[in-house]
Amino acid sequence: MTEEIPNLTAFDEAALDEAFSALERQARAAAAALNGEAAVEAFRLEWLGRKQGRLNEVSGLWLKSAPKEAKKALGMRFNALKAVVEGLLDSALGAGPTDAALAAEAIDITLPGTRRLTGAEHPITRTLNEITSVFAALGYSVGVGPEVETDFYNFESMNFPPGHPARDTQDTLVVAGQDRRPQRDRLLLRTHTSPVQMRTMEQQPPPVRIVIPGKVHRNDAADATHSPIFHQVEGLCVDTNITFSDLKGTLDHAMKALFGSSLKTRFFPSFFPFTEPSADVQISCIFCGGKGCRKCKQSGWIELLGCGMVDPAVFAFAAEKQPGYDSRKISGFAFGMGVERIAMMKYGISEIGQFYAGDMRFLEQFA
Ligand code: PHE
Repeated sequence: MTEEIPNLTAFDEAALDEAFSALERQARAAAAALNGEAAVEAFRLEWLGRKQGRLNEVSGLWLKSAPKEAKKALGMRFNALKAVVEGLLDSALGAGPTDAALAAEAIDITLPGTRRLTGAEHPITRTLNEITSVFAALGYSVGVGPEVETDFYNFESMNFPPGHPARDTQDTLVVAGQDRRPQRDRLLLRTHTSPVQMRTMEQQPPPVRIVIPGKVHRNDAADATHSPIFHQVEGLCVDTNITFSDLKGTLDHAMKALFGSSLKTRFFPSFFPFTEPSADVQISCIFCGGKGCRKCKQSGWIELLGCGMVDPAVFAFAAEKQPGYDSRKISGFAFGMGVERIAMMKYGISEIGQFYAGDMRFLEQFA
């Protein structure tokens, strides 16, 4: 803090010199430490303030109490000190922001603004949404289930009994250290979205119309069209009198909605443990319109998804929790499609790895 102004007791030249030079030293020290606009203003008020400024105090205390003969010498020193303080203030004000700092702060309105990139749906998400909305329009609701699934839901309840060779077609990663658990409780990364069929049926009695988008895992070597992690959309419809014709009509409509109304579908016999009969759905080649080209291996057809009528063995598992799934009273169909494959066809993508590489040049094309 600044010192108080002392009373002057002697008014000879030496005493005056000493008193004024003490004040000057204080002012110079204070000015040297000034840092920033607010400090400079505080310095101005402290020294030059009209009412409480130190110079005002000096003039009140010293000038007024000085004997007549000392007034002139005192006044001269006072004016000299005032000039010094004003000079200190001027140079403190002048030492504001440098020209360079001011120039850097100035706004150049001719420069382009900062562009904010708008995000976009990933092509997989977009395709998932497109597929689910086709079925939503038919009255299907959307369900989800866990990616880390039990052996029971992924395999057993889908009619892959323990040790059944069909399990080999869907090898996957299993969680380690579960040997002491019963096999049906062991955890694995789900190989398909079909276990959510069972989870849904256990939760609600028939009728059911549901689509299940999600991520699945398989022990597949990555190549241009395969990835060990990919996406599926599952579908399940259960009600009274559901027939294979309903399945055909539903999927034919869905494929036309996704790829265009001139598309045709055909159903080929196939096998899945959880559907009987089972079929593979082929669509007329969207690249050549069915004439035959390199993409469809000159056949005019492209295989796109699996489907079938829900196997009574699957309903039997569901009926343990929901007796309404009595295969003598109800029937149903299910289907499952690979999302990457559909996205690749819709958008003309030839490498599945593009979906996962995070390359902005690829992703920006979907913005
Ligand atoms: N879950 C089967 C798969 O991943 C697809 C499928 C689903 C087939 C439903 C029939 C019915 O290959």
